[in-house]
Amino acid sequence: MRILMICAEYAPLAKVGGLGDVTAGLGSWLARRGHEVLVVLPCYGDMRGRGVAMEGHPALGPRPVPGDPAASYSVHRLAGGGHRGTPEVFLVDAPMRFGGGVYSAGEAEALRFLLLSRAALELAASAGFQPDIVHCHDWHAAPAIAMLRGAPGEERAFRQAYTALTIHNIGYQGVFAADVLERAGEGGLRAHFAPEDLALGNINFLRAGILHADLLTTVSPTHAREIQTAEYGMGLDTLLRQRRHRLAGILNGVDYAHWDPAADPLLPARYSAADSAGKRACRMALAAEMGLQLEEGVPVVGLVSRLAQQKGIDIVVHALPELLAARRFACAFLGSGDARYATALHGLARRFPGRVAFIEAQDERLAHLVYAGSDLFLVPSLYEPCGLTQMYAMRYGAVPVVRRTGGLADTVTHFDPATGEGTGAVFLDADVGGLGWALGAALDWHAVPAHRAQVVANGMRQDWSWEHQGPQYEALFARLAGGGATARA
Ligand code: ADP
Ligand code: GLC
Repeated sequence: MRILMICAEYAPLAKVGGLGDVTAGLGSWLARRGHEVLVVLPCYGDMRGRGVAMEGHPALGPRPVPGDPAASYSVHRLAGGGHRGTPEVFLVDAPMRFGGGVYSAGEAEALRFLLLSRAALELAASAGFQPDIVHCHDWHAAPAIAMLRGAPGEERAFRQAYTALTIHNIGYQGVFAADVLERAGEGGLRAHFAPEDLALGNINFLRAGILHADLLTTVSPTHAREIQTAEYGMGLDTLLRQRRHRLAGILNGVDYAHWDPAADPLLPARYSAADSAGKRACRMALAAEMGLQLEEGVPVVGLVSRLAQQKGIDIVVHALPELLAARRFACAFLGSGDARYATALHGLARRFPGRVAFIEAQDERLAHLVYAGSDLFLVPSLYEPCGLTQMYAMRYGAVPVVRRTGGLADTVTHFDPATGEGTGAVFLDADVGGLGWALGAALDWHAVPAHRAQVVANGMRQDWSWEHQGPQYEALFARLAGGGATARA
């Protein structure tokens, strides 16, 4: 199949959270399978500073930016890519739109991502790449789905294209004042946005994508059910129930080429389930780097997170003081995002010097060290479409303590010392009592060597590689591409 993938993040070029890991992992797997995969993402301003190199001669353009004819954009192929069995990656170069980092704010976001979709479709059309599937990730790429609804110029190139929308995070929908469409030179798209939003003077990119996509997926089976409920649907549940026959939940895969403690070049020492000496070295390195005073046998509790409401940081901040007073453990926390949560975590670290360390940063190397150096790992999310950090933690031998929601519920089972089965501690109530109970249980297991060894081994054995998860996308895509007119939404 020919697959055009449109996304805001693609690791390691552009990554804020799991979206980047998943687009890169899935895109690479599909290409390895022999599909022709063309990935289009923005060339963000900060990529140049990091030495991301593009081929000099543009693959498309320069062309005038719709709505801003004085400005131009071009699309460049990523230098050094395009080998057989790998995706071809293209970057939309438009400094006036994509300055700074991956996300901006306000109307600038709408202008950014309308241009991303437009440029991706223009690139495919001009390169003669006639996709079977246009795979759009999150609200950022949903405009492409609206654009493919009847824009006459696109018809020939996209005659056989089916659209797929993967919802990684329903909490971000891309809601803007509708008149931004005219300012973006995309007034023709207005008819494809939902009337209930337009009646309020708004457009909602994600809702438009959900309305029109031939296939909808989200990133775990449990979350596919959750988003059809008022509690988790964030206002889109009614529409998702109407379109449920188009909706599938596919658990994210893990790219173990990048996430394997036995071969991880970002770690000071390597280890495996059979030989954990390296894990002890990582633990000491983490403690030294973060300023933790570790006594022998005291477990390290890790956390690596975007600091957003979704992630349950409030629960951590409120639950930990009592637990720290009662039990022996240390905390190594890494996060960046909302200043409110960063301030709260800095406060916790100040209150428990040497026992709680918090580094406010986006740091890929340190993230790997936190997984490797931790014995337990917190993911107390209020909602979690899939969640990758608990899967990485398990592979790195850190026992996840998670709330039973979304992909966390699908990937972690509560350990039972009597049977020796289970991979972590799972709680339901999103409050201090819930997290306190689960972390308490995990600390109890850690204190009994046989229990600790068993739960760690169970986690390290789990396998969510793309070889398992990818075929589910492939099968749905193939059904669309092979299904003719009945497949069309
Ligand atoms: P989300 O996409 O909601 O942020 P996921 O669990 O799917 O949640 O993915 C998070 C990804 O981002 C993981 O790769 C994790 O290691 C990474 N990550 C989160 N916060 C940081 C940080 N501060 N520094 C480095 N990596 C981070
Ligand atoms: C999101 C979700 C997370 C998921 C990731 C990749 O941002 O919050 O649960 O793992 O996307 O799909």
